Amino acid sequence: MAKRVPRGLFVTGTDTGVGKTQIAAALARLLAERNLIVRPRKPVESGCQREGNRLVPEDARALRAAARTDEPLERICPYPLEPALSPERAAELAGMSLALDDVRAACLEGVAETDFLLVEGAGGFYSPLAPGLLNADLAAALPLPVLLVAADRLGTIGHTLLTVEAIKRRGLALVGVVLNRIDACGDPRMDNAADLSRWLGRPVVVTERFDAGAVQHPGWMMLCPALAPLADRLAVGFRPHRF
Ligand SMILES: Nc1ncnc2c1ncn2[C@@H]1O[C@H](COP(=O)(O)OP(=O)(O)OP(=O)(O)O)[C@@H](O)[C@H]1O
Ligand SMILES: [Mg+2]
Repeated sequence: MAKRVPRGLFVTGTDTGVGKTQIAAALARLLAERNLIVRPRKPVESGCQREGNRLVPEDARALRAAARTDEPLERICPYPLEPALSPERAAELAGMSLALDDVRAACLEGVAETDFLLVEGAGGFYSPLAPGLLNADLAAALPLPVLLVAADRLGTIGHTLLTVEAIKRRGLALVGVVLNRIDACGDPRMDNAADLSRWLGRPVVVTERFDAGAVQHPGWMMLCPALAPLADRLAVGFRPHRF
């Protein structure tokens, strides 16, 4: 039987900690506001805190709230891992070995044909999930078009171009590149947005730095205006859900 191809997006990064969750959360809310049923997934999350006998995946929790879904956290993150290490190593320490078919199936669980599947990868595109299994393999197996998040800092041009090449090599569509101004300003003469746009031959989306301490609501809400045009583009072709 032919594999079902889901509709949605795979959010990856040039690295861990570049803002994938914040960008994915903002997109989840923007798409939900456009009447799409958003199914967020953070299938493998390491660095989870233990609360009693369960592990709490914070990324999955943020995505769940942003997407306004009542899906159980266990479905959004079927593989929470405690050590704050690469999933491959964290899973090994937990005595587990993740298999591509299982992770793929877990991502698709509860996702209807008209839903928007929003998957956040773990770490970067080539970060390992298990022996012989990279995030890139999961994106390709689903398969989903890719949104690449990069931090706006020195070094990002090289990391971004390398990751774009890897995405193309897998034959996956690159939906866009988000340059996230996660750091305080560096050299004012640096202009990664202009330089990357030129190298990529397409504009990049720039999201500004927010001050998490200064706002009552989650920081990702500050990123929504910059991401709204992308959400508009993604929503085209999706049949909006009528409540
Ligand atoms: N635009 C921004 N302004 C200020 N802080 C930001 C911004 N984007 C992300 N952050 C902060 O940077 C940290 C890392 O962001 P985030 O958790 O989204 O990264 P990630 O790529 O999802 O990391 P991981 O690989 O662990 O999943 C968080 O504390 C987040 O609040
Ligand atoms: Mg994250």
